[in-house]
Amino acid sequence: MIEISSVSRSYGAFKALDNASLSITKGEFFSLLGPSGCGKTTLLRMIAGFDTPTSGTISVDGQPMDGIPANRRPTNMVFQSYAIFPHLNVAQNVAYGLKRLRLPSAEEKRRVEEALAQVSLSGLDARGATELSGGQRQRVALARALVMRPKVLLLDEPLSALDKKLREQMQVELRRLQQAVGITFVLVTHDQYEALGMSDRIAVMFGGRIAQVAAPKEIYQRPVNRQVADFLGGMNFVKAEIVEENAASITVDTTGFGRVRTDKPQAFVRNGKAATLGIRPERLRVLWDDATSPHEVSGKVVDRHYFGEITHLIVEVPGLEKPLSVSETNNFGADDIPVGAPIRLAYDPDALVAMAD
Ligand SMILES: Nc1ncnc2c1ncn2[C@@H]1O[C@H](COP(=O)(O)OP(=O)(O)OP(=O)(O)O)[C@@H](O)[C@H]1O
Ligand SMILES: [Mg+2]
Repeated sequence: MIEISSVSRSYGAFKALDNASLSITKGEFFSLLGPSGCGKTTLLRMIAGFDTPTSGTISVDGQPMDGIPANRRPTNMVFQSYAIFPHLNVAQNVAYGLKRLRLPSAEEKRRVEEALAQVSLSGLDARGATELSGGQRQRVALARALVMRPKVLLLDEPLSALDKKLREQMQVELRRLQQAVGITFVLVTHDQYEALGMSDRIAVMFGGRIAQVAAPKEIYQRPVNRQVADFLGGMNFVKAEIVEENAASITVDTTGFGRVRTDKPQAFVRNGKAATLGIRPERLRVLWDDATSPHEVSGKVVDRHYFGEITHLIVEVPGLEKPLSVSETNNFGADDIPVGAPIRLAYDPDALVAMAD
């Protein structure tokens, strides 16, 4: 549905986007994820037609978009600071873009009502735009885009102005809406949970470059490098040396975890012999009493942080430069393990991931 080929955007000497290539499939919920300033909005604006690549091409639905203005593209964008018109009521806000199509008024009314139903705002047609909650305003902005029946809906941090509870609720609704209407969604976010929870696939971006494109689970479990791993949740990094590498797997030597063979992440590009072995804090499990595991490391608890449903244990392991961070649910008393206590940790070798340095 969207084909981005070697697209760059420079502002003077500064490259906001650097040679990005990406294919987004029809009906996909696709997210652009990355820290502030990495070029997410820049890319989205070029898909929408509000900005032009310095080089490279963008096609939407098989059509090259060069020279095609925003209002003639099969896309519609919901902006980072969603602007709904304060002097118009809900129905007028939603109908705004439709005016240009000069539809018979009954047809226009029907489409507005359909769009309001899609975002669960039926019955609020006559409400003034200033008499709405933040979440309702967000829905109006969505309805205003949906009413145009775009092939692609571009959403730039649409939920960032909402509080945590409402944001989580809207995430579920947005996903359900996307599945119901079947439109291709491209969502920009810097929130890893939002991207992981909603997307079919995610592109992780840093400094104008796309670092990895994959499904949420692959991105989380097989990050291609430390930067991606670090951006998506906690990760323990252990120094490693590459012993062997083939198309599907990679073998590394470490102190602490010994020799490890793991699946190779997509797009893994080695950089000499040095690599890093990663393990997520929740993939380390406390071994209680006499329990054993074929794969364990032992050490000493040096710190403990209580977070309600989980406890973070900081565990020093001989041979490792940095202590391991262990995230343990508070079912079994991890919150009572004293600092200074010896501890054994089990892990599944499949949870270890080799990353390029
Ligand atoms: N018109 C412009 N002139 C110069 N630099 C710009 C312009 N627009 C964007 N930039 C720069 O390009 C980089 C990428 O900006 P962009 O808005 O795409 O970031 P972003 O990933 O959307 O960040 P955020 O999460 O903060 O919205 C930033 O460093 C920004 O300062
Ligand atoms: Mg932005």
